[in-house]
Amino acid sequence: MKKIVLDVDTGVDDALGIILAVKSGMFDVLGITTVNGNVSLAKSTENTCKILDFIGADAGIPVVRGASQPLLRHVYFEHRIHGEDGLGGALRDFSASRQAQDGFAPDFMIEQVKSHPGEVTLIMTGPLTNLALAISKYPELVHQVKEVIFMGGVVTQYGNVTPTAEYNMYVDPEAAKLVFHAGFPELTMVGLDVTRKVLLDESHIAELGDTELADYVRVSTSEYTQRYFERNGVRACALHDPLAVGVAMSPELVTTRKLFVDIETRSELCDGQTICDFQNRLGKKPNMHVCLDVDAPAFFEQFVRVLNS
Ligand code: RIB
Ligand code: CA
Repeated sequence: MKKIVLDVDTGVDDALGIILAVKSGMFDVLGITTVNGNVSLAKSTENTCKILDFIGADAGIPVVRGASQPLLRHVYFEHRIHGEDGLGGALRDFSASRQAQDGFAPDFMIEQVKSHPGEVTLIMTGPLTNLALAISKYPELVHQVKEVIFMGGVVTQYGNVTPTAEYNMYVDPEAAKLVFHAGFPELTMVGLDVTRKVLLDESHIAELGDTELADYVRVSTSEYTQRYFERNGVRACALHDPLAVGVAMSPELVTTRKLFVDIETRSELCDGQTICDFQNRLGKKPNMHVCLDVDAPAFFEQFVRVLNS
């Protein structure tokens, strides 16, 4: 089984990514690290513990807190999309029994990569602050990690926070810049270019049957779906983070190109914009696999099958 560390800012779609990863049975989940993003670090951590308890995940999966704010900037929560609690109000009356363990997420990442050199896949579904701190403290991590897959950025269309920036990149562009330039041999961007093609709608939820999990998915995504409808005219919930997990499960789901991507950090209008050099105009060495297309039906077949398992 693939060893993974999942880094989350649990929010609605992070939660679905955690459920997909744990229920897939395809991963040795070494741990789940939390970061501020959609909601505060405390809420992201509480939500992660709730979700793991709710699905009856192995009690041995550690949850480790990370950065409570971006490297340089202020926090930028998204309660409009994820609700006050971060799970769209689902599990409001559910209290987690498991707790986060002591320690700091960047240190946990370093420990796990050192213990399993060349074997650990980092799946990042929030701002990249924890990973930036980890490589700043232990640069060797870049060459000892198996691969890094991150949900973030957009290179062929508009942003979802500003006209140019995707949320995870916008919250901490300095962290992203550190990661982009660190020299990871296997770095994959799962951006809005593909995540906007995996839109969960009622037809998919109906396939989950009449179960507690189906109810959770329906309740937790309803606010998110309403917001998406208001903005995009489609009643659906983009499964941004679950697709990053899906790519770790089945890389063949996506079509990628190895390209040079950088990020804007000093612009009034474009901070957080991910700039992809499709024509190699800058003459820089390509630094990541950019996802440009996805087999959405195949992803949903996998998503529904795993959640029904
Ligand atoms: O832009 C979508 C990303 O930002 C997702 O990871 C979502 O959870 C938010 O963190
Ligand atoms: Ca997220």
